[in-house]
Amino acid sequence: MVNKYTLNLLFDNHGRQLNYLRLAVTDRCNLRCFYCMPEEGLNFSKKSQILTYEEMERLIGILAKLGISKIRITGGEPFVRKDLVPFMKTVSEIDGIDRLSITTNGTGPLKQIEDLKTMGIHAVNLSLDCLDRERFHKITRRDEFEQVMSYYKALLEAGINTKINAVVMQEHNLDDIIPMCELTQQDNVSVRFIEEMPFNGGSKGYTPIEWNHNKILAHIKKAFPNLIKLTDEKNSTSYNYQIPGAKGSIGIIPSYTRTICGTCDRIRLTPKGELKTCLYQNGSFSFRDFMRDGATDQEIENKFKELFNQRAKDGFEAEKQKSSESSSFESMATIGG
Ligand code: 5AD
Ligand code: SF4
Repeated sequence: MVNKYTLNLLFDNHGRQLNYLRLAVTDRCNLRCFYCMPEEGLNFSKKSQILTYEEMERLIGILAKLGISKIRITGGEPFVRKDLVPFMKTVSEIDGIDRLSITTNGTGPLKQIEDLKTMGIHAVNLSLDCLDRERFHKITRRDEFEQVMSYYKALLEAGINTKINAVVMQEHNLDDIIPMCELTQQDNVSVRFIEEMPFNGGSKGYTPIEWNHNKILAHIKKAFPNLIKLTDEKNSTSYNYQIPGAKGSIGIIPSYTRTICGTCDRIRLTPKGELKTCLYQNGSFSFRDFMRDGATDQEIENKFKELFNQRAKDGFEAEKQKSSESSSFESMATIGG
């Protein structure tokens, strides 16, 4: 999708059009998913270190003029940041922004859902890795399963386009894969299985995964031999399927195998205002410091363009360019999910 600033369409040095921003508004979270952060949490940023809403709005305004039309709000858990709803409403009204979505862990009050609906949210992605209270507790180290399930039901009732993100973990939730697929038979939801990535904030070591997208698909096909392959959207990060007659669909995201980099249209801003042109890249440049040192809009625009022109061709190249520090000490909460 392109916004009305079509003439400014933004391409990277590999000819990929960029139109999607993932904006992490905080690195904090009220859960402790073990694939994301250790039990004791991370060395969370101080308030003064993270972008203010005004700073984010300014960057979004500039990016929208460069052709960014889709925004996803992520974290950490975005709703732990104060006044998120009014901020999102402002973002949804920025000229050129056509699609606003959010990824949440669904532990917030159900009342949020009305607010999301009123602002015309495009989609809500709910992080939910299993359908069992005890396993949920083991994975997230918090007893919030019932709350998250109520949130899920309320999203469907409100008619909001809902997706479930489930990280596939050999040690924890293989038994949930088929029940989660079955959920799509009765509910209009897209359940997406995500390969586990090495960003766990030092919660554990990381050995290359065995349960990659091929293995996940083979497992699902065994239970549903007539699984239908759906046509994937142009910049889709998931391979999509449907059980015949199901209301919803199933997606598999090769986030570790990285077979989808060729059509990647996304950039990320971390809570501290660093741009990441790839999930596997080290934060490259601090737009926070640049703005706080007095950069003009034109200078910011030029800097974005310069960095978009130095994009790694895929997640493997980006990873190679990293410093030697082991990536498992990074967390999706600081990278921005
Ligand atoms: N590997 C894969 N997905 C992850 N997420 C967080 N950490 C990881 C990881 N190490 C996912 C969560 C959430 C999204 C923001 O990122 O499940 O849905
Ligand atoms: Fe929180 Fe999401 Fe990380 Fe879980 S994966 S600890 S919900 S930020």
